[in-house]
Amino acid sequence: MTVQPTAFDPDWRDVGALADIPLRGARRVATVLGDIALFRTGDDEVYALFDRCPHKAGPLSQGIVHGRAVTCPLHAWVIDLRTGEPTGADAGKGCTPTAPVRVDGGRVLLALPVATA
Ligand code: FES
Repeated sequence: MTVQPTAFDPDWRDVGALADIPLRGARRVATVLGDIALFRTGDDEVYALFDRCPHKAGPLSQGIVHGRAVTCPLHAWVIDLRTGEPTGADAGKGCTPTAPVRVDGGRVLLALPVATA
């Protein structure tokens, strides 16, 4: 079987140790597409979102992580870490793009889109 290239061919990059992200906290990583906020939940799940609130571009990496959500530090919108969408009264008012991320052997791997022929 031949695997055909797709429009999105992830290129996994090691962006540090899981332990470098505070529990129920975040760490910011600079990429060619902009700053990405890596969030670590209390259950050691990791999510990656662009570090830009869908409201007025507040730095989500400086927000408060609770459950699978982060509360923006500027006006307290609550953003779902799984989808990048605001929840509650602000649902449907925009979306922060997410990025593929996984943890392997205690290392955090982030995938960014690369062009394929
Ligand atoms: S900028 Fe995030 S809630 Fe306003």
